Parts: sequence; C-alpha cells; structure tokens
Amino acid sequence: MKRIVVTGGAGFIGSHLCARLLEDGYSVLCVDNLLTGSERNIEPLRNHPHFSYLQQDVTVPFDFEADAIFHLASPASPVGYMEHPLETIMVNSQGTYRLLEQARSQKAMFLFASTSEAYGDPLVHPQREDYWGNVNPIGPRACYDESKRLGETLTMEFYRQFQLNARIVRIFNTYGPNSQADDGRMIPNFITQALQNKPLTIYGDGSQTRSICYVSDLVDGLVRAMFQPNTAGEVFNLGNTDEQSVLEYAQLIIQLCQASSPILFEPERIDDPERRRPDIAKAQRVLGWQFHVSKEEGLRKTIEWFSKQLPHLTTIA
Ligand SMILES: NC(=O)c1ccc[n+]([C@@H]2O[C@H](COP(=O)([O-])OP(=O)(O)OC[C@H]3O[C@@H](n4cnc5c(N)ncnc54)[C@H](O)[C@@H]3O)[C@@H](O)[C@H]2O)c1
Repeated sequence: MKRIVVTGGAGFIGSHLCARLLEDGYSVLCVDNLLTGSERNIEPLRNHPHFSYLQQDVTVPFDFEADAIFHLASPASPVGYMEHPLETIMVNSQGTYRLLEQARSQKAMFLFASTSEAYGDPLVHPQREDYWGNVNPIGPRACYDESKRLGETLTMEFYRQFQLNARIVRIFNTYGPNSQADDGRMIPNFITQALQNKPLTIYGDGSQTRSICYVSDLVDGLVRAMFQPNTAGEVFNLGNTDEQSVLEYAQLIIQLCQASSPILFEPERIDDPERRRPDIAKAQRVLGWQFHVSKEEGLRKTIEWFSKQLPHLTTIA
C-alpha cells in the first residue's frame, strides 16, 4: 500500500482528496495546522484504519514517510490570504521547499497545488499552461499569486536539478461541500445569503465571468496528475470551462434555493480578474481527464450541504 501525505488535508479540497485516496486503497496522512481548515472536514475519516492526522505547520521541519506528497496547504480565498498574507507567502515558498526536500530524500512523488491566480488578471482567454500571466507583484493579492508562482518555480527546479518526480496543477475556481461559508468566495457567499433570503452581494456590475468546477471532478484530476505516467515536470490546468457571468450564477442560486433575495451591487474589488476560463486541452489529452458534474447538480449538492451547516454558522451579512 502506498503512503500518501496530503498537506492542507483538513481544508476544503484536501478533505475530499483524503477521502478519495482512502477509497482508492491508499494509506493517508493528513497534515494541517488548521489555519483556514477544520477538523470537522475530516471527522468522517477519523475511524478509517488507513487514515491518520497530524496537526502541524508544514513551514517548520517534521518527520514523515511518504511515497507521494500532495501539497495543498495554503490559504486559498481572498479573505484567507489577505488575513494571513505572510503565512501564505511562507507556506507556498518555505513550506514547498521543505516538502520538496523531503520528497527528494525519500524519492517520493510530488504534486504542487497552484492556482489560476498564477495568471493574474489574464490578457489571454482562455488561459493555456504556456501563458505567463499578468500579475501585479505588489498588490493585495500578490502574497498569494506571487508565492504560488515561486512554489511553481521551486517545484520545476527540483524536477530539473534532481529529477524529482514532481508536477504542478493550476486549480481554477472549485466549489462543493466542506468549503468555508465566510471566506468571501462567490459560491459559498451566494448560497449562504440565498438560504437566509438575504441580498446576494455582487462586487462590480456582475458582468465579470467565472467558470466553476465541482470538487469531485477536481480531485479526480489531482489523482490522475499524480499517478499517471508522463506527468513529471508538467503543468496542468484543472477546471470547468463552462463560463458564465457572476450575475447569472447569482440568479441560478436564487432559483435553486427558491429564495426571495434581491441582488446588491458593491464596488468591484482591487485586481479582481474580469474573466477566467481554463484551457484544459492538455489535461484532457495527457490525463484523459474531463469534468462530469453539471452546474445544477453540483450546486444542488452544495446547497444541501450548506443548508445542514447553516444553523451552526454565524449569519452571513
Ligand atoms: N478552492 C479553490 O477554488 C482553489 C482554487 C485554486 C487553487 N486552490 C489551491 O488548492 C489548495 C487547497 O485549497 P482549499 O480551497 O481547499 O483551501 P482551504 O483553506 O480550505 O485549505 C487549505 C488548508 O491548508 C491548511 N494550511 C494553511 N497553511 C498551512 C501550513 N503552514 N501548514 C499546514 N497546513 C496549512 C489550512 O489550515 C487549510 O486546511 C490551496 O493550495 C489553494 O491555493 C484552491
């Protein structure tokens, strides 16, 4: 049985990845310092005989054994990384470096979870992996965008210098159960607002577009990127290509929640990208990956999960 380490495993995507790896028969060590994650997300996995959990900051050295490391630890939402800018920089730079060193010494496989934000406010649509991006290096999002870019650089140098079996995945907007309600991301915001019949807040005029990927599709892509042959040294975009305006998402969520919420327009956020849509031709070709969950199906599952959480959540404005 392969031993897999998932950093950030108590977070939104990490918890789904841990569950999927256990299902696939791997032994999983989830490492998380709970900066933005929660033990609640891994509660259903706690009694699994091949699951273990270590509360640990990955920017400081610690011992573990692994055949493969999925490095997902990092605040991921604008609220998360703007509240913890230095922690974000450190986990994607120093944390990545330490984990790469561990992978090198143990000859383990490595996957770095990067982001579509590596493309910044893109001037090219859709974004292909060979697009270098349009990033503001000193803006409020730079702690995330630039540290992810440095994490990518480190990963590629370990691949080039030491032939480490490492790859990078650029994740585009992902949604689903276990995401935080109050992290400022579009889908959790809209759903929690609609479930309470409160106004849905749109920053800007709502014409900016997003494409959203359901978490099980994304996790399937992560697993393929790690374990399929000919993926070392490669970068893959993973995301859904179905692009819609923020206003259309708001209207759909109001409809699915059967809410009576109005829509409230607030000033747009600094450096918020106008458009974002992945080109996933490479993931389709090399990984045989495709998203399957429709927007309506994914949103229904997510709404169902949030509606169960709502009584425990502090109310969202
Ligand atoms: N959710 C998305 O739409 C999205 C989009 C692009 C990229 N990503 C990337 O995917 C990864 C997971 O994102 P998520 O949405 O699950 O976010 P999340 O905040 O739910 O999960 C991140 C986890 O990392 C943990 N963490 C942070 N710093 C740590 C440290 N120093 N040591 C140990 N653990 C630490 C947090 O406690 C949290 O559990 C991140 O690297 C993020 O940048 C996510």
